[in-house]
Amino acid sequence: MEDSDRGDDDAWEPPFIQPHRHDINKFGRYASPDQERARIDGHDIEDLAAAYGSPLFVASERRLRENVRRIRQAFENRYEGTVVHGWSYKTNYTSALCSILHQEGSWAEVVSRFEYEKARSLGVPGRRIIFNGPHKPRESLERAIAEEARLHVDHLDELSLIEAIGRDRGECVPVTLRLNFNTGYTDPWTRFGFNLESGQAHEAAARVRRSRHLRLTGLHSHIGTFILEPRAYGEQARLMCRFLAEAEADGHTGIDTLDIGGGFPSMNALQGIYLPPEQAVPEVDDYAAEVCAALKEGLDGRPPPTLILESGRAVVDDAVSLIATVTGTKRLPDGRRAAILDAGINILFTALWYHHPVKLARPKTGEPEETVLYGPLCMNIDVVRQSVRLPPLVVGDRLVINPAGAYNNTQWMQFIEYRPPVILTHRDGGLSVIRDGEGLDDLCRHDHVPPHLAPPLD
Ligand SMILES: Cc1ncc(COP(=O)(O)O)c(C=O)c1O
Repeated sequence: MEDSDRGDDDAWEPPFIQPHRHDINKFGRYASPDQERARIDGHDIEDLAAAYGSPLFVASERRLRENVRRIRQAFENRYEGTVVHGWSYKTNYTSALCSILHQEGSWAEVVSRFEYEKARSLGVPGRRIIFNGPHKPRESLERAIAEEARLHVDHLDELSLIEAIGRDRGECVPVTLRLNFNTGYTDPWTRFGFNLESGQAHEAAARVRRSRHLRLTGLHSHIGTFILEPRAYGEQARLMCRFLAEAEADGHTGIDTLDIGGGFPSMNALQGIYLPPEQAVPEVDDYAAEVCAALKEGLDGRPPPTLILESGRAVVDDAVSLIATVTGTKRLPDGRRAAILDAGINILFTALWYHHPVKLARPKTGEPEETVLYGPLCMNIDVVRQSVRLPPLVVGDRLVINPAGAYNNTQWMQFIEYRPPVILTHRDGGLSVIRDGEGLDDLCRHDHVPPHLAPPLD
């Protein structure tokens, strides 16, 4: 046959050798284990993509509420004092999602001027804002102090700045010290806050005690992220209680808050972890049990301080899915099947750390093969999955990637492609767009072309 005789859609390709796999059914073709069409809160994926386009982020109000309730409840069931959840804005600051969590009673945990202003614009009062982060400009601190936000101090220069503002205002400003230390279970994050082992944290507490314009009202630490070992939190709570007792012995009498940060894992598949998330990720009750047992012992009969949790990814990750569409397929020279998707690391930044679970929107037959999923960028690093077993894909097939809710709608970048819309499936079955997809005007709004560079009109 002449090459020219082949139609455009001729499916011929050179033969390749595929190693035998014992897990493939020898007697029949592959049938997707999910015989149902994939749905999100009852909404058919194909219908959503047809109505709102692809790629598309879909957030579930129901799941988000369930997640935050489950986490708070696990601690409330075990702790005698008040438990507060501070929503970590940087994990996902889509306004509607923040508003759902604030409706659930979560405070805002912010780490920049922008996040602070965003929380205020969503109606969060200053006293329900936890202001973390290593860079808080003077104007932001002035506003936060005037609005009674909780300042979590990162370093001595910041402490001096807060003291100076307190002096100017003729006030004694309440501060929380961020501590860092080695629990023995994870790599310590030493770059934020004051180190315990080196004595820095005690020096900072002494510095607060000497000042007429500062008073210590809280202790905070965030030991890391995606921490699979609940005992790390038990040790964290023990170390914080010990520091609290020492601070009290040194004359600090007003510490009424302990904040243990975030870091609980979501049901995502972290790269480098062999077990699937269902086996690797402990229940939130396991974390709560460790923390609350250590607090009970460490507080040693003191009135229980307010316990703040700043869980981010465990709250939002599986509440958001990304729908993507296959736009092309190819066979790589090494024999592997590859598919090009309309969604890549530009909007799924976390593909760099996770083997994101990927499902087909509708069941397909055909033998599954190791498949590489590429994104749409003309960049070599744009890989959604290096290797996932999927039946043969064709143009137009839809995939659902979940969990996708943590750190993507904030760390996504406008690079090469427009960012897509985000929709919300309501508790009552409704749907709404909670963030528009971008267009050219959005991206060029901040550009200016000087007159001598203006394009010719004809
Ligand atoms: C201070 C602080 N709190 C909370 C979080 C949320 O962490 P995660 O999403 O791991 O729960 C972070 C994230 O790094 C953080 O830096």
